[in-house]
Amino acid sequence: MTDTSPHSQNSPLLEVRSLSTSFRTERGVVRAVDDVSFVLERGQTLGVVGESGSGKTVLSRSVMGLLPNRNVIREGHVIYEGTDVIGYNEKQMSHVWGAEMAMIFQDPMTSLNPVMKIGKQITESLRHHLGVDKEEAKATATALLRQVGIPEPERRLNEYPHQLSGGMRQRVTIAIALACGPKILFADEPTTALDVTVQAQILDLLDDLQRDRHMAMILVSHDLGVVASRTDEIMVMYGGKVVEKASTTELFRNMKMPYTEALLRSIPRIESPSHTRLEAIPGRPPNVLSPPKGCNFAPRCRYVQEKCLNEEPPLESENGHAWRCWYPVGSDANREALERNIAAGVPVGVPAPGAMSSAGGL
Ligand SMILES: Nc1ncnc2c1ncn2[C@@H]1O[C@H](COP(=O)(O)OP(=O)(O)O)[C@@H](O)[C@H]1O
Ligand SMILES: [Mg+2]
Repeated sequence: MTDTSPHSQNSPLLEVRSLSTSFRTERGVVRAVDDVSFVLERGQTLGVVGESGSGKTVLSRSVMGLLPNRNVIREGHVIYEGTDVIGYNEKQMSHVWGAEMAMIFQDPMTSLNPVMKIGKQITESLRHHLGVDKEEAKATATALLRQVGIPEPERRLNEYPHQLSGGMRQRVTIAIALACGPKILFADEPTTALDVTVQAQILDLLDDLQRDRHMAMILVSHDLGVVASRTDEIMVMYGGKVVEKASTTELFRNMKMPYTEALLRSIPRIESPSHTRLEAIPGRPPNVLSPPKGCNFAPRCRYVQEKCLNEEPPLESENGHAWRCWYPVGSDANREALERNIAAGVPVGVPAPGAMSSAGGL
């Protein structure tokens, strides 16, 4: 029977509204996710991008309700098919996990049990969530392994995780995540631990599965290049905040945020020796225990002005494109800021190819 409740018909699949997540630590309160809002529609892919420590994993876990209760403060709303699940306890969330939202992690070994055969790990999850019998669970597990591109699935069911390569292990965790037919898959740096060719295969697999199942996906990566061609929308995070958000096409056509621009320049290029980063972003990510007064990217920004160090820019929005910057890339104010910095001898880094003329041929 199809669900005809008014909520699921009219509301987006997932709406996160002003979600903040903090940790109480001995050194103080760490605000890892700060006032994040977004909407995810059915079948869509949202890319979440930012350097290590920007809050991507905490955001994913916070939305899924996968953080410990102790010393964690969650505020805001997580509205899944019209129902706010922010206040759900573990028992209530257990109905959401697997069947509605599932997650795969960077290191497949952390989500696989090293001493249990692959087959059992999949069938246990199927039997637990779907209540199917042993034979049926085994048949479904075999079909799932085949679907995620594992050759000879019947034989693999009897193997242990260490007998598989990293790429194959990640395929197994994808099979487990898909077992109960979730409507949203959170993929948290799913290929970071894998080598480059295997990375592409896994990302292609996720693309195919998502299309076949009309599943929504939140693809988390520190690499803008990974999400560039595989998402409908991109949300850039810095120090726990969303600093830019736009449809993927709009973001690359009309990038506003100096931080996003810096991330773009740090994408490893195939043509560069051993895929090294062209330019790492100088400086360090902000201290989340005591964030700076103004814009938290200001100390690392090539366009930085006095105002940026003193006043925090609000999240501005135009036609669905949002950013947080006083001197957005592409504006006259931005060009003038860069010129002032060059004239004053402020280090502005290596300009992007194509930005050479505006940077005075540095
Ligand atoms: N359990 C925790 N206790 C305290 N701080 C934490 C905890 N988990 C994450 N953090 C902090 O939250 C911030 C965001 O972390 P994380 O979401 O893991 O970043 P990312 O996934 O973008 O690399 C970091 O500053 C990290 O140190
Ligand atoms: Mg992470």
